[in-house]
Amino acid sequence: MIGKLNHVGVATPSIEQSVKLYREVFGATSVTEKWSMPEQGVWVCFVNLPNAQIELIEPYGENSPITAFLAKNPKGGQHHVCFEVENIYAARDEMRAKGMTVLGTGEPRIGAHGTPVIFLHPKDLGGVLIELMETPKAAH
Ligand code: CO
Repeated sequence: MIGKLNHVGVATPSIEQSVKLYREVFGATSVTEKWSMPEQGVWVCFVNLPNAQIELIEPYGENSPITAFLAKNPKGGQHHVCFEVENIYAARDEMRAKGMTVLGTGEPRIGAHGTPVIFLHPKDLGGVLIELMETPKAAH
């Protein structure tokens, strides 16, 4: 059921500085504008690669879910990995049936690509926070 690697989430104290790094060190040429997602408590920006994206996330507001992560990793760091799935509800139910912990209420939320996403607790997953997102329909 697991689909394509969509993106690797990287938390950063400064999207501008991270974008500079991807442009100057790695020669990235396709980078989106950053925008805020107040409900998720983050600023978001994507660095487009030939086969996937790097999702840069910076805290937005006082109760950002990545504030604690950045307190532990002041320079930023790899935060999550996102795989595509065909149906988010089917994926959620299957994950629960397999004993995985879905974060939050378990109700999918609209993610940065405009499709529903869930996050799975890293404790069951070798320490990796995993995001599952429904494949954008326009991608087909
Ligand atoms: Co993500």
